[in-house]
Amino acid sequence: MTGAGDAAVREVRAALVGRGPVGQLPAAFLAGVTRFARPAPAELDAQRSAAEDLAARLATGEVGEQDLPLLTRVLFFAGHADLLAAAGLPVPGYDVLGGFRDNLARPLGPRLPERPTAGGRRWRLLGRTVGFPIGVPACVLNGSEAWVRHNVAGGYRVLTYKTVRGREHPPNEQPNWTFAPGARSSLPPGAAAEVVSDPWSWVPPGDPAVSTVNSFGVPSPAPEEWMADLARSLAAVGDDALLLVSVMGEGDGADLVTDFARTARLAEEAGAPVVELNLSCPNTLSASADGVKPPLCLDADATVAVVEAVRRALDDRTGLVAKLSWLDEPALAALVPRLVPLVDGIAGINTLQSRVRRSDGAATFPGRELAGLSGIAIREPALDFTRRLVALRAAGRAHFDVLAMGGVTDPASFEALFTAGADAVQSAAGAFADPFLARRCIAALGETLPRAVEAP
Ligand SMILES: Cc1cc2nc3c(=O)[nH]c(=O)nc-3n(C[C@H](O)[C@H](O)[C@H](O)COP(=O)(O)O)c2cc1C
Repeated sequence: MTGAGDAAVREVRAALVGRGPVGQLPAAFLAGVTRFARPAPAELDAQRSAAEDLAARLATGEVGEQDLPLLTRVLFFAGHADLLAAAGLPVPGYDVLGGFRDNLARPLGPRLPERPTAGGRRWRLLGRTVGFPIGVPACVLNGSEAWVRHNVAGGYRVLTYKTVRGREHPPNEQPNWTFAPGARSSLPPGAAAEVVSDPWSWVPPGDPAVSTVNSFGVPSPAPEEWMADLARSLAAVGDDALLLVSVMGEGDGADLVTDFARTARLAEEAGAPVVELNLSCPNTLSASADGVKPPLCLDADATVAVVEAVRRALDDRTGLVAKLSWLDEPALAALVPRLVPLVDGIAGINTLQSRVRRSDGAATFPGRELAGLSGIAIREPALDFTRRLVALRAAGRAHFDVLAMGGVTDPASFEALFTAGADAVQSAAGAFADPFLARRCIAALGETLPRAVEAP
């Protein structure tokens, strides 16, 4: 038992006692666990008795490092995760019980005492250089200035501001993001996924076998709001990091194309050096039986029409990245040569649109049968996609950068995508579940990762 772990648990206990009677903790925990649905009675009883035992030991002070796994779970669902973060302990960075808006203002994870660096080495990306090619992709972990600052402090250098729209758009009904504890290994590329995920599911922070499912529906503040926030975020990143901005259009056919171009222009106006097009959202609502549409990039003609229109609308100096879902061999080979003349980079993969149910058989996300699976479950599809994308780049005439993501939860999975030829590697589910992921990757690979260049 390390003294540091015990001391951190004691610090959390003292802060918790300062907030109110620890006897109330089990009820707060169970309120969180049952916020969106109820576990089966036996499971609920087991969770209740574990929380009651813990609360009894917290009351007497007989707690130590060995209690951390349970303490973390109980405090996360009881709404006290900030106490763990304040003590420097790992906790998932996003409060899945809270709403999208509440979370925008408040990253949950611990703030590192020192920003991890790779000793001044730099890597080339999209015409600039970055201090280490790890990042957080477009997702709710990059939805505001507070998050961008948090991620930069955590060591991430390639941030993509969460997909924004040309008008305000509410999030889908909660829950929006849940763990999938049964999905502990990767699906093979191309496999369809059926996932069991309960709103109370849990995977401990730092477990590299983490998968999650999400169904946010690409919420967006109104342009006046996100443009001002984006301008502040861009000013906050510093010269060894890059902040891209993801945008998405609305509507069908010509309306969709026009709205993509208009929204991309708004991002450019706010100062975006690189615009990323979300051509791969798995969570757009529709009146279909599944409740959502397939990702746009499955339709190559519609995708190219959007990218062409955006390229025409943007200043030549603004970088353009197309973000894709996993596509099979013929679809990727047909689409990439059409995109290459228009873009500076291709990003992928987005989450895998998957059928998601609770353990009692009901839909995890009300009204939406399909949601986006990511984390280790999509690691092999992401590697497969990246290798094929890099091969298409080598076979073609024009260069484009590759921003790879999907299943990066530890240094080895980061390195695998980089070694496959990616210019930068990003993590969403891994960054959510492990607040120290960038630091671990930089510590493991900062001095040895190839393709570094002289700092400018
Ligand atoms: C909660 C959540 C929200 C996301 N939102 C977006 C988004 O707004 N735009 C987008 O292009 N991708 C979005 N993504 C997809 C990620 O950017 C990434 O492509 C995907 O999660 C695969 O990486 P991972 O396995 O590291 O999670 C989201 C992913 C998650 C987990």
